[in-house]
Amino acid sequence: MDRIAWHCHECFHGMQESETAGGIVVVIDVLRASTTIVTALANGAIGVRPELSPDAARKAAKAASSGGECLLGGERGGLRIDGFDLGNAPRDYHRQAVAGRRIVTTTTNGTAAVAACPQAEAILVGALVNRRAVAARALELALAGGGPPRPIHLVCAGTDGMVTEEDVLAAGAILDAAGATRVDDPAAAALERFRRTVRGATDASVPLAAALADSRGGKNLLAIGMAADIGDAAAIDTIPVVPRLDRGTGWFRLDP
Ligand code: MLT
Repeated sequence: MDRIAWHCHECFHGMQESETAGGIVVVIDVLRASTTIVTALANGAIGVRPELSPDAARKAAKAASSGGECLLGGERGGLRIDGFDLGNAPRDYHRQAVAGRRIVTTTTNGTAAVAACPQAEAILVGALVNRRAVAARALELALAGGGPPRPIHLVCAGTDGMVTEEDVLAAGAILDAAGATRVDDPAAAALERFRRTVRGATDASVPLAAALADSRGGKNLLAIGMAADIGDAAAIDTIPVVPRLDRGTGWFRLDP
């Protein structure tokens, strides 16, 4: 494992496309885009397609609707977009709502973070809920192909160009699950932050929920009455699935 280099990009803004070229990317937006995409696919959605704007999402949903109607999901200012079927709360993406459906989503930061890595070898979605599964899959992909191991990039969405504690904590949680040792300075700091946060806890989701509530993204959610999403996002290792972007079609699907 120490052959694999881990990088943590604390906020994708300002990151050059070339930085993640050829690497394995894990996009992280714990509150809430990445938690929601993981939840939707775990609950039977066929695919989730990220788009940068509400208009682009509407167009993509229309274009994709020939094979059965698509759901539109996402947020602006944390709230459901006018005319959309779903907001961005993970619990809205329950089995009854999403099983067998395709979903086009647009969110303020999360979907933009995906678009910031166009030259990556693979793009996975990581959150606290699937951190063990995504760590294992990222390691497999980094070692696949028989050549030198590919680097793994943890790309945090942040909030409006600013680093957010919740994404850095999830990056640390993934590094912890992977047993990562060859880490850059931001990754080392994220790992330390995660370990300090959960130290001594019998149920790590308890201190994680408290840290998330105190984060920039958490405070934004509390201000709009969406406290339940914080607990859902803090439920570490509860969803063992990994979304991967199909580069040919632009849809996230379960991997493998
Ligand atoms: C984002 O992409 O910025 C978020 O997921 C925000 C949110 O869910 O409110």
